[in-house]
Amino acid sequence: MKRYEQFADEIATLIRQGVLGPGERIPSVRQASHRHGISPSTVFQAYYLLENRGLITARARSGYFVREHARRLLGEPRMTLQPTDPAEVEVSELVFSVLDSLQDDRTVPFGSAFPSPELFPLSRLSTSMTRGLRALSPQQVVADMTTGHIDLCRQIALRYMLGGIQLPMEELVITNGAMEALNLALQCVTQPGDLVAIESPAFYASLQVLERLKLRAVEIPVHPREGIDLEILAERLEALPIKACWFMSHLQNPLGASLSKERKQALYQLLKQHQVPMLEDDVYAELTFGSSPPAPVKAFDEEGLVIHCSSFSKCLAPGYRVGWVAGGRYAEAISRLKLMTTISPSIPAQAAIADYLQHGGYDRHLRKLRHALEAQQGSMLASADRHFPTQTRITRPAGGYFLWVEFPEQVDSLRLFNMARDHGVSLAPGPIFSATQQFRHCVRLSYGHPWTARSERGMETLGQLLNLF
Ligand SMILES: Cc1ncc(COP(=O)(O)O)c(C=O)c1O
Repeated sequence: MKRYEQFADEIATLIRQGVLGPGERIPSVRQASHRHGISPSTVFQAYYLLENRGLITARARSGYFVREHARRLLGEPRMTLQPTDPAEVEVSELVFSVLDSLQDDRTVPFGSAFPSPELFPLSRLSTSMTRGLRALSPQQVVADMTTGHIDLCRQIALRYMLGGIQLPMEELVITNGAMEALNLALQCVTQPGDLVAIESPAFYASLQVLERLKLRAVEIPVHPREGIDLEILAERLEALPIKACWFMSHLQNPLGASLSKERKQALYQLLKQHQVPMLEDDVYAELTFGSSPPAPVKAFDEEGLVIHCSSFSKCLAPGYRVGWVAGGRYAEAISRLKLMTTISPSIPAQAAIADYLQHGGYDRHLRKLRHALEAQQGSMLASADRHFPTQTRITRPAGGYFLWVEFPEQVDSLRLFNMARDHGVSLAPGPIFSATQQFRHCVRLSYGHPWTARSERGMETLGQLLNLF
């Protein structure tokens, strides 16, 4: 990273942490240059970058100021959920009707699960596809189906190592996206009828997996900033024969919450004490604003209880369907189940990603992507301030591309979803994130697409529709 980028990230962190408040003046170019021992042109470049990222603004003859949208007019959602009894899961119909509404690309895509393809290095990836294919030996095309493309496995293991985790290559199974990793893992550690602890709200596809495998959900509340409620989890693990946990310790979907290092450690101690395996769904880790991702719960795993699942779908190559699982003590069983079901993800797609990771400038791309998403988050928050009722509560996650919005109680997000769809705006209504169809007055909004006048109009439309409740 260049010095000006580093300095820009330091200032961005101070803004994110609230040390530099909205409207506040940031150090002048001269002060910053003097204090940090860097040239005025480096400071200028850093401030220019922060302006582009939408975090600061220049005022003529006065200097640089933190942008107003950093002001949190709208409060943070409360954790209102009470623990519920274990529940059968039936959300698929509702989820499919929401997903159908996203097919129409004339709608403003606030309901979308993926960031805009414009944010990905698609052309460089196609170069990597050509290069990767050329380098493949005919034997490899067949042999790698069992083990995964060897260079890709090495690159993934290397990224674990850089993050402080020594991952034996035998633990790694390459899958068709994270979704297959999670499906296989859950199948390996449960039988129909078992209880599985999940988050509430939870990623809707995890609910669909439970539904398909005839598992029962034990919902554990998630705090919008601090993550899963460990006290309730401890109590539930004590009281119920829970066979597995499925959690996101970092940038949880839909809340964006992340557990601190201490809380990750405490979560691991609970798993160890009860000898319950945990699927750690970590697909948004690389989208942490301004820094490399923090260590997952997997980093504390001494007994192979944590099954860490991720993919390149959200951060590099949507549609390539390349993901993986670091399966701990279940790796062998997961690998066999994969061979019995889909055999292998496409070898050319794996070869392309392996080449990209080696030669394509992955970290540079990630820095750009994180900056774009952070600026888009700022635009959506500012727009929510302008258009949504003042009692609205909204998250401000430290990465990813979702906001969770809690509207006043009388708002019915399923009706809002239908009304918004008729006006050309998509959104993800709260009940699809719950086994017990809670969060009726909440929605998840995506800021994964570049912010345009159309996005602003979409927010205005939602604001007008909200006034009808
Ligand atoms: C939390 C979460 N886990 C897993 C997935 C699936 O990832 P993939 O597309 O790699 O299968 C998604 C995609 O929406 C997700 O949001």
